Amino acid sequence: MRMVDLIIKKRSGLALNDEEIRWMIRGFTDGSIPDYQMSAMLMAIYFQGMTEQETSVMTDAVEHSGDTVDLSPIKGVKVDKHSTGGVGDKTTLVIVPIVAACGLKVAKMSGRGLGHTGGTVDKLESIPGFQTDMDEEEFFETVNRTGLCVIGQSKNLTPADKLMYALRDVTGTIDSIPLIAVSIMGKKLAAGNDVILLDVTCGSGAFMKKLEDAVALAKEMTSIGERAGKRTAALITDMDQPLGYAIGNNLEVIEAVEVLKGGGPADLKEVCLALASDMMYLAGIGSLEECRVRAQEVITDGSAFEKLLEMTRAQGGDAEYLKDTSKFAKAPFVMEVTADRSGFLMHMNAQECGTASSMLGAGREKKESSLDLTAGIVLSKKTGDTVQKGEVLARLYSSKEELLEPAAKRFLGAIEIGAEQPKARKEVLARVEAGKVDYYID
Ligand code: URA
Repeated sequence: MRMVDLIIKKRSGLALNDEEIRWMIRGFTDGSIPDYQMSAMLMAIYFQGMTEQETSVMTDAVEHSGDTVDLSPIKGVKVDKHSTGGVGDKTTLVIVPIVAACGLKVAKMSGRGLGHTGGTVDKLESIPGFQTDMDEEEFFETVNRTGLCVIGQSKNLTPADKLMYALRDVTGTIDSIPLIAVSIMGKKLAAGNDVILLDVTCGSGAFMKKLEDAVALAKEMTSIGERAGKRTAALITDMDQPLGYAIGNNLEVIEAVEVLKGGGPADLKEVCLALASDMMYLAGIGSLEECRVRAQEVITDGSAFEKLLEMTRAQGGDAEYLKDTSKFAKAPFVMEVTADRSGFLMHMNAQECGTASSMLGAGREKKESSLDLTAGIVLSKKTGDTVQKGEVLARLYSSKEELLEPAAKRFLGAIEIGAEQPKARKEVLARVEAGKVDYYID
């Protein structure tokens, strides 16, 4: 087989067969297919797309390109949730304790942040002492004992995806629906859970800016999951503005704790309840309505918050910081950003807000950049709110004073103030399972 023939075949709009796809992923992973040929293939896929059969086989090849996790030593139904990425997205910190308090097992591998999006592992590590690096035996033992554990992705999971993602990042081929589906589902299937709930974000802070694209991605990913024999569903959630008010690592942990203590921003709470109840529903605990009642109950009676404390202690973290979040380190430099006119906050570009937070030190521009766990943004206003000239829109936090000014400029560029109040957006826009789409919007 020759890679150039496969590139020409795909470029001409023809489907690759199973053998060709497996040969290509194997060769790319072992280095016998060079980056320049794989780049050409990725671009051909970007323009020509892939059939359902091609995405399923490519996902399987990516899943098996390295180690896979066998979660069978963990008793009970194992449920995973994955977000396609966003800004201010701290839902994992809230959902995992909720579903564990309801009796499900969560053995979760999460990622670090890159670019404008944050990562759960970085957020958890902002709790002093919290360890996200664990060997498999300890991971299984912790989940069996406590019901939950969140660790970083193991080193040799889906190496083909790591190599391919790095190439996509520099060849303009990230935002391809089949390639995103293969990348995410390859990792999810390798992580070995029985049930997968996908949170497909939609809007200015997400890969998918338009609802129809988010639905197409959700259909593609759920179909891959089902073809692999896993119950898989997706919620399409709004990411046209940051989720909640806090963006940045320890700021987001504090906000997640507020939700688990029964407060917190309404949009964040709504998305967390929808995701947590859907995970329980998919695991067969009850109807969606019953699961939502259960999810609310474990927040109200404090057992979900207790689970977060238990997980923190089990992973070496100091749970006292969660009981009293005023203990968290605070950035030494703060800047208030104010409105230059009165009106309604018409739109907030979530990706730009995420970039501004990253510029303050909360995110990484490169894989090896170090993080300022206290840096970030706390919004005072959200889309649809009224603002008066001179009123505070947000507070920016950083350990480096010189980072405040450029980040403030970037943040202000993301904000649109106008005369008309925008239509309120729903937090959960649609649900996709077994090829069926239920829309929750008019
Ligand atoms: N997240 C991933 O893991 N892969 C993608 O391709 C996009 C988002």
